Amino acid sequence: MENKKVRIALTKGRIENKAVDLLEKIGYDVSELRNKGRKLILSISGEDIEVVLAKAADVITYVEHGVCDFGIVGKDTIMEHGGKFYEIADLGFGRCRFALAVKEGADFFAGYGVKTVATKYPNVTRRHFEEMGIDVDIVKIEGSVELAPLVGLADGIVDIVETGTTLKENGLEVFHDVAPISARLIVNTVSLKLKQERILEIVDKIKENLE
Ligand code: PRP
Repeated sequence: MENKKVRIALTKGRIENKAVDLLEKIGYDVSELRNKGRKLILSISGEDIEVVLAKAADVITYVEHGVCDFGIVGKDTIMEHGGKFYEIADLGFGRCRFALAVKEGADFFAGYGVKTVATKYPNVTRRHFEEMGIDVDIVKIEGSVELAPLVGLADGIVDIVETGTTLKENGLEVFHDVAPISARLIVNTVSLKLKQERILEIVDKIKENLE
């Protein structure tokens, strides 16, 4: 039946391999996913499941619009992007954190002036400082945010820290943690109603196979 078909949106890059490993672990044939070349829509043979590969924010967009039933996406993107979907499981991989980082030895809170924070995640950053009751100026940067404090654009950055190598190699250090991050399973709200049995069957399989 057409509406039993399930489509999963998977975030390309960093968490992709772990997500494919998980699908394999639950018994799916992931050979097309392992040998995908430049293909963006892949099928899992023997299952009525299609996998699409997309950038993190687009994974959320596809799930929100209901063209994908499931999404596998980092909590970082969920926190920044928001949206209407169910966050149904913490998949446990892709673990890292949001942190406020400064130049080595710097005290972010020193002095009285309003501090400037550079980030690719302005919503996460705004909420974090609002919760702390601290007024900051936020500058949106598209990438290599570590540069901003080095060239004097910002007093600190809010960014993803995994191993800490990028900070270290650029003379920066974590001032404090902002939030933990890991890959999450999200589900379209309507799919969960219309294909409940099939969706929950997959969710159960995934949950059983989490490390
Ligand atoms: C993130 C982040 C840091 C780096 C941290 O970038 O912006 O640059 O990873 O990792 P580390 O603590 O292990 O050094 P990412 O690789 O996700 O690329 P991006 O700049 O495109 O976000």
